[in-house]
Amino acid sequence: MSQNPIIYPSIDTPDIDHALHFAKIAEKTKQGLKLGLEFFNSNGPQGVAKIRGACPDLSFFLDLKYHDIPNTVRAALREASKLDVDYINVHASGGIEMMKYALEGAQDGAQKAGVRVPKVLGVTILTSLDEEDMELIGFYGSTDELVMRLARLTDEAGLSGIVCSAMEIEMIRRNMRKDFTLMVPGIRPAGSDIGDQKRIMTPKQALDAGADHLVIGRPITGAEDPEKMIEDILQDCA
Ligand code: C5P
Repeated sequence: MSQNPIIYPSIDTPDIDHALHFAKIAEKTKQGLKLGLEFFNSNGPQGVAKIRGACPDLSFFLDLKYHDIPNTVRAALREASKLDVDYINVHASGGIEMMKYALEGAQDGAQKAGVRVPKVLGVTILTSLDEEDMELIGFYGSTDELVMRLARLTDEAGLSGIVCSAMEIEMIRRNMRKDFTLMVPGIRPAGSDIGDQKRIMTPKQALDAGADHLVIGRPITGAEDPEKMIEDILQDCA
C-alpha cells in the first residue's frame, strides 16, 4: 500500500474497465482510490475484488455510507471488510450504537478473511448540504455545531475519524485528538466546476487547514489528462 496517499480520486462509474484505468493512474501517482455507490451497485463486491487484485498496493476507500439499524450495519460491515479495503464509512447520524456495531462488524469480517481491519469513518454532514437544506430536513443549529456533535459521537464510538467538509477542518483540529482522521470531499482545484457541491475549498487550502486525505472526483475524472491533473494538484500542495 502506498504509505500515505493524499488524494483519493473518486471513481464514480458503473464501468469496471474505466475504474481499472483510473485505479492504475492512482497507483502510478501513489495516491488512493475511492469506490462508491455507483461502482458498487454496478459491479458488486466482485468488482472491488477485481480492482484490488489488479492493484494490490493501492489504498482503497470503500464509500458506501451505511445507515441502518445497528445489527444490519454490523452484518454489512462484516461482509464489506472481507474485501481488504483501507477505509469504509457509515453515517454518524445513524447513532453511537450503530457506529459501535459497525466497528465490531469491520473487525470481525477482516479477521475472518485474514485481511487488515479497515478504518471506519463517520460521515458528518454532506458537503452538498448548506444550512438552508439542513433546516428543511429539521436539523436546527449551525453546521459547525452539528458537525462537532457528530465528530464527538464518532470518536466516542471508537471510530478512526470522520468525513467532513473543508470548512470544518480547523474546528475539528482544535477540538479533537491529533490522530483523528479527516477525509475531506468537496474539493475543487482553482478554476474547476463546482457542480452540486456547496461547502468547498481548494486542495491546498484544505491540506493547510489540516486535512489528512482529500476526496476529489469530477475535477480528476473529467480532466483531459487525469494523471497530469493529480500531479498538478500534488505539486500545488507541496
Ligand atoms: O469531487 P466530486 O464532487 O466529484 O466528488 C463526488 C464524490 O464525493 C462522490 O462519490 C460523493 O459520493 C463523494 N462525496 C462524499 N461526501 C461528501 C460529498 C461527496 O463522499 N460530503
